[in-house]
Amino acid sequence: ESYDMGGHETYMHKEIHEQVDAVDRVLRGRIDDRFATVRLGGLNLDAREARAVRRVKILGCGSAYHTGLIGAQLIEELARIPADAEPASEFRYRNPVVDPDTLYIAVSQSGETYDTLAAVQELKRKGARVLGVVNVVGSAIARETDGGVYVHAGPEVCVVSTKCFTNTAVAFALLALHLGRIRDLSVADGKRIIAGLRRLPEQIAEVLRDEERIKELAAEYADAKSMMFVGRVRGYPVAREASLKLKEVSYVHAEAYPASELKHGPLALIEPAVPTVAVLPDDELLEKNRATLEEIKARSGRILAVAHQEQDKADHTIVVPKNEVELDPILMGVPLQLLAYHTALALGRDIDKPRNLAKSVTVE
Ligand code: G6P
Repeated sequence: ESYDMGGHETYMHKEIHEQVDAVDRVLRGRIDDRFATVRLGGLNLDAREARAVRRVKILGCGSAYHTGLIGAQLIEELARIPADAEPASEFRYRNPVVDPDTLYIAVSQSGETYDTLAAVQELKRKGARVLGVVNVVGSAIARETDGGVYVHAGPEVCVVSTKCFTNTAVAFALLALHLGRIRDLSVADGKRIIAGLRRLPEQIAEVLRDEERIKELAAEYADAKSMMFVGRVRGYPVAREASLKLKEVSYVHAEAYPASELKHGPLALIEPAVPTVAVLPDDELLEKNRATLEEIKARSGRILAVAHQEQDKADHTIVVPKNEVELDPILMGVPLQLLAYHTALALGRDIDKPRNLAKSVTVE
């Protein structure tokens, strides 16, 4: 991959379309079919150390933090280690308890974000083990961590992250699978996840083939005063990232909420000028999510659903191919990148360089 625009009008568009190859790259050479696991050469964490981990804490900023939310869910699901993510800046400002049995993971596209780097340095000073999930090889965070997983998304030029977001989520799936297979994940489940990972590039291509329709939907919703993004558990980090993406690139105000929190306040905002994007993976929470759609409809809210099948309660549905339930969130983010992109295009925004933002924030 190069800096050449290759016929695309913006880097954002180019990078969204590069995801098929990028995901292929993050998987390449890492899958070990014989043991239904993955090999992560730079991890620097042997089986005994991996088994001793009692908790995982993931730190990052912006989109990197959101991939951390996906990563924490994957690690809990596949490796059954309690895991959570926190913005790196909050973590370093609050004088956190640094626990020797916790594995800390810093996540960053550039590897240079000051808040994340400062969190790593503080952790190292206190004797913690810190891994990196980083895109830029040899960057400051890659150097200062004890080991990690490179994301191999290739250069990302557009300020808002797309392919790196997806690849980082896949890198977390690899790490979760690796930790899971050292702990309690069965061979059968390992094989199931590996097969799912291998299907991802083609399924991303399938989502991207739907671009014209997503463009029409973007035009339909571009007049929104504000947009709500909701999801439950697996859908929630996807909703958060999609909301951030829309804000950053189109300047349309957006909020993300766990679907079950809607009734505790934000439901008051719902009206036709405030549409909702609902992320509905086909998991054990689907029925609950459908009930949320009804609550929104009852307040005359418009709904755009992202789901694996048409949703009759929604005004529109973007249908995304089904993968394994743990990996579905990765796919569901992709059409929402296109939604943000085409909304920004319809509104005439400066897509690759949104106002007030920088690709990496290397100062405090
Ligand atoms: C900036 C960018 C975001 C990015 C964040 C973290 O705020 O505008 O798009 O997610 O930094 O960057 P990193 O390089 O650490 O992933």
